Amino acid sequence: MSVPVDHETVISATDALWWRQAVVYQIYPRSFADSNADGIGDFAGIVSRAPYLAALGIDAVWLNPFYPSDLADGGYDVIDHRDVDARIGTLADFDALVEVLHAHGIRLLIDIVPNHTSDHHRWFREALDAPPGSSARARYLFRDGTGTDGAQPPTDWRSLFGGSTWQQVPDGQWYLHTFAVEQPDLNWANDEVRDDFLTTLRFWADRGVDGFRVDAAHMLAKDLSDPLPSQDELDLMPRDGNHPLLDRDELQQIYAEWRAVFNAYDPPRTAVAEAAVHASRVPRYASPQTLGQSFFFDLQLADYDPASFHRIIDECLRVAVTSGSSVTWVLNNHDTIRHTSRYGTPFPGYGPDGEPVRKHGGDWLMAGGDPVLLDAARGSRRARAATMLLLALPGSAYLYQGEELGLHEVAELPDAVRQDPSFLRNRAVEVGRDGCRVPLPWTRTGPSFGFGAGGAHLPQPLWFGHYAVEAQQDDPSSTLALYRRALSLRRTLQGAESLQWLPTGRDDVLSFSRPGGWRVVSNFGARPCPLPDGEVLLTSNPLSDHLPGETTVWLRQ
Ligand code: BGC
Repeated sequence: MSVPVDHETVISATDALWWRQAVVYQIYPRSFADSNADGIGDFAGIVSRAPYLAALGIDAVWLNPFYPSDLADGGYDVIDHRDVDARIGTLADFDALVEVLHAHGIRLLIDIVPNHTSDHHRWFREALDAPPGSSARARYLFRDGTGTDGAQPPTDWRSLFGGSTWQQVPDGQWYLHTFAVEQPDLNWANDEVRDDFLTTLRFWADRGVDGFRVDAAHMLAKDLSDPLPSQDELDLMPRDGNHPLLDRDELQQIYAEWRAVFNAYDPPRTAVAEAAVHASRVPRYASPQTLGQSFFFDLQLADYDPASFHRIIDECLRVAVTSGSSVTWVLNNHDTIRHTSRYGTPFPGYGPDGEPVRKHGGDWLMAGGDPVLLDAARGSRRARAATMLLLALPGSAYLYQGEELGLHEVAELPDAVRQDPSFLRNRAVEVGRDGCRVPLPWTRTGPSFGFGAGGAHLPQPLWFGHYAVEAQQDDPSSTLALYRRALSLRRTLQGAESLQWLPTGRDDVLSFSRPGGWRVVSNFGARPCPLPDGEVLLTSNPLSDHLPGETTVWLRQ
């Protein structure tokens, strides 16, 4: 397919460091754009929206899993790592998508899911058909049970989606699944597993993929030697590289092998780890010898609070330097409640693990947003200010589809339509992540608000029409206009990766400068503050002669 290049930024084939300050836009393929009216987004839908992506001003797209899947976990239950789900397209459609994005100056990252497969993956079917102790079982983590006749699971460990982490198979053995029962964990001590993933990485890199987002990157390596600890013991174990399940030191060896594959390409393929690890251990994933980058979720976990932002920004920049990497800033993704809704809902406080405290009826990051407590206008205002702050930081910024429209979490999804296993396995505890995965509104009205010509696999609320692309694209005060303007300015302002904090005389106001005269002031408080001298380039909310509360401004000085 030949596509006219209509974007000023043409990809430089030799720019090996493009990722360091890139803006990456996350697409959840089933919910972005549907070309064939089956209610599920697809590659042809994304291709049809490539001009929209180019006009937004992003550098790259990250696609959530699009592989054949039973959708037990939104596509993270992969049946074949080297194919495309028929509902999303074909390999030829994938190739066309790569070509179209590249022609628009947009790179492509894809999600690699190495910790587990689907229970319908060929390997797992073979494992079920093979006897205990067989090489087919050795690709996964099978064990005998405990108690009389092995009828009890090997341990009392809990799966992250609720219930036991062990599932029994007909011959009595049990397999480990960190996530849903349909997601058996792979055995990364097995050479066949390691080699097969290298083949998968080459398969996609050969097709033109520019980089990879590595799912649950801190979980692959496990030590299941006896005696196995109890869940309580596990919870108390330090995460020092020797924890039986998390962040084990041997992961570095795995990722060094991956790095050798990435570096065989020109430019080298990039990778970003989804690794929930202590800051001191981030360099193990983010170093140039391993994956090169690791997500920093700290801002996403934080309250809209200047002291927290200041501390986190300093800490992340410091760790990134230690890693020889850049920070990946994130406020939204497919796993968390949208920041417009988070910032409009009272913050529950931090727990001993540094994460927001869980609330009854859900978790601050995962629940659907409490409609009684939600102050939507305030949430939107703060979200715009926080985004402008984030986009001014040195490093790369990850945006999640729909945040450029200012979408709120869809809290009102009926239980009957919810798809997320974290809800289905935990009904009384969590609402799950479907509320941020509802298909995007492109038009004010019409079937599925322009998502496609048919329905949408998760129902869209009536208010989605107000947030549609069509409703915002010609409105200079819209959130879409703000994102476009911010991304376009960022391209021209972005220079060396450094930041200098500036005094503001107020605890609730943060200010910093970037090289080249770019100054940022963010007023987290309710009271206006004086506006420094300089040319106003962009503001998250209208200015008076002062900087209003909950507003960020970019100035040139
Ligand atoms: C992904 C989730 C997914 C889980 C299991 C996470 O890190 O972001 O969406 O449910 O991995 O694959």
